[in-house]
Amino acid sequence: MAGIVEGKVALVTGAGSGIGRATALEFARQGARVVAADIVTESAVETARLIQAEGGEAASVHVDVTDEAAVAAMVEFTVSEYGRLDCAHNNAGILGPLSDIANYPREEYDRVMAVNVTGTWLCLQAEVRQMLTQEPPVGGHTIVNTASVAGLVTNHTIPAYTVSKHAVVGLTSSAAQSYGNQGIRVNAVCPGTIETAMSLPFRSESAAPSPTRIRQAIDRNGLPEDVATLVVWLSSSASSFITGTPVRVDGGALS
Ligand code: NAI
Repeated sequence: MAGIVEGKVALVTGAGSGIGRATALEFARQGARVVAADIVTESAVETARLIQAEGGEAASVHVDVTDEAAVAAMVEFTVSEYGRLDCAHNNAGILGPLSDIANYPREEYDRVMAVNVTGTWLCLQAEVRQMLTQEPPVGGHTIVNTASVAGLVTNHTIPAYTVSKHAVVGLTSSAAQSYGNQGIRVNAVCPGTIETAMSLPFRSESAAPSPTRIRQAIDRNGLPEDVATLVVWLSSSASSFITGTPVRVDGGALS
């Protein structure tokens, strides 16, 4: 049976671990050719290897999403490898320290903004520039940004991260409005607590103080695969009337 993104070309940032790796694998399982991009080169290489070991097609590329030239080179690499770019998942992100605003170090704030906001902006910009040169596939070109439930509500323990993910949601709706009639759909996923290294302070097994934990309707940690299947569905023609939407995948944490 054909996959839901059969024949498409997908680019995933932050593909070396966690949610990004799971999404890269799911894209390949659903028939896409995949470029796995990460600042940790070996981890992106390993993701591509895992895809190839399952019989999929994948390549890897080093990128620091805060570096405009490197981001442009990443998109060029994708096109040189596979001829076009149909689906992008802008997922690279960092948490930054747990701290209140008064004590938040300026350099940490700058780093969170650089990766989560400027990085997502630069990737989206380069991807849109490429997509506008192409004939849209059925269901449109797609961009899915990884925001967070912290892009919809406040988590006061991670103020800079909260600001950055609200910005990702804003960027998503702005880009969706701009390019909806030019064959590009832009959505965001808003994960709750997903089992990756990043979420350790928020998980039930964490020793961190209780204000960092979030109560959920479904009482388990999310898995990277819970996010991956949503990202790939938002990248398929099955979701062709959905754009500009931040979609929660949080076990009902905000319900
Ligand atoms: P992770 O730490 O496993 O993955 C993040 C990936 O991004 C890593 O492979 C890292 O090397 C890469 N990366 C970091 N800075 C980069 C840069 N400048 N350029 C390129 N790549 C870079 O964490 P996880 O959980 O998989 O996070 C993925 C996304 O999901 C992030 O945007 C995060 O904010 C978001 N998220 C995660 C949640 C969770 O509970 N794990 C909840 C909500 C959102």
